[in-house]
Amino acid sequence: MTTPVAAEAAVAPLSGQPTVRLAREEDEVFVDDLQAIAFGPGRFSRTAFRVRERFPIDKSLSLIAEVDGTPCGSVWMTPISVGGIKGYLLGPLATHPNFRKRGAGKLLAREVSKLAMSRGEGHFVLLVGDQDYYCPLGWKITVPGNVQFPGPVDPTRVLLLADDPELANTLKGSIADFDLGA
Ligand SMILES: CC(C)(COP(=O)(O)OP(=O)(O)OC[C@H]1O[C@@H](n2cnc3c(N)ncnc32)[C@H](O)[C@@H]1OP(=O)(O)O)[C@@H](O)C(=O)NCCC(=O)NCCS
Repeated sequence: MTTPVAAEAAVAPLSGQPTVRLAREEDEVFVDDLQAIAFGPGRFSRTAFRVRERFPIDKSLSLIAEVDGTPCGSVWMTPISVGGIKGYLLGPLATHPNFRKRGAGKLLAREVSKLAMSRGEGHFVLLVGDQDYYCPLGWKITVPGNVQFPGPVDPTRVLLLADDPELANTLKGSIADFDLGA
């Protein structure tokens, strides 16, 4: 079995390019530490974290980014539905500060979305994030106020990736169970 790696251990100034793989049980310590580093102690009160408390993440859609075999980033996906349409909530997405600006974050966002959508069940990947980061990757701003979260969110940060180019304009409703989607 591989030894668990804490995020503090991910400090080596490695030069390789990031790759992604499915998360394994032994990544749990790394992911916990990384989320603490990236989002701080206030993370549990964030609305997106509250969604994940209510609707469990799909561990088979959790990815780890690595550089030369050292974990350096992670992303989770939560199956949800909105207005009777099945999809996924992406996040948290985080890259260890010592490994930023190497493309790990964008690789994780792209690959986890591709993996989720390839299942053929969900129609969108929703997230709460910066337009400048995600819109060049294909995410679009939703109609402010249309997607209702179980807590406050900045409506200009509610972004959607979908094959249907109209869905960002039409998706409307509260975040609900994946199984409530048609
Ligand atoms: C956001 C984050 C995941 C990016 O990780 P990363 O591995 O450095 O991302 P990439 O290497 O793929 O992309 C880096 C590029 O995005 C830019 N970028 C990073 N965060 C950005 C943001 N919030 N808005 C716009 N651009 C951003 C960087 O400046 C860099 O630009 P460059 O390529 O022109 O130098 C990482 O900074 C992080 O973990 N931040 C803290 C947690 C967080 O905010 N998560 C996102 C929540 S939605």
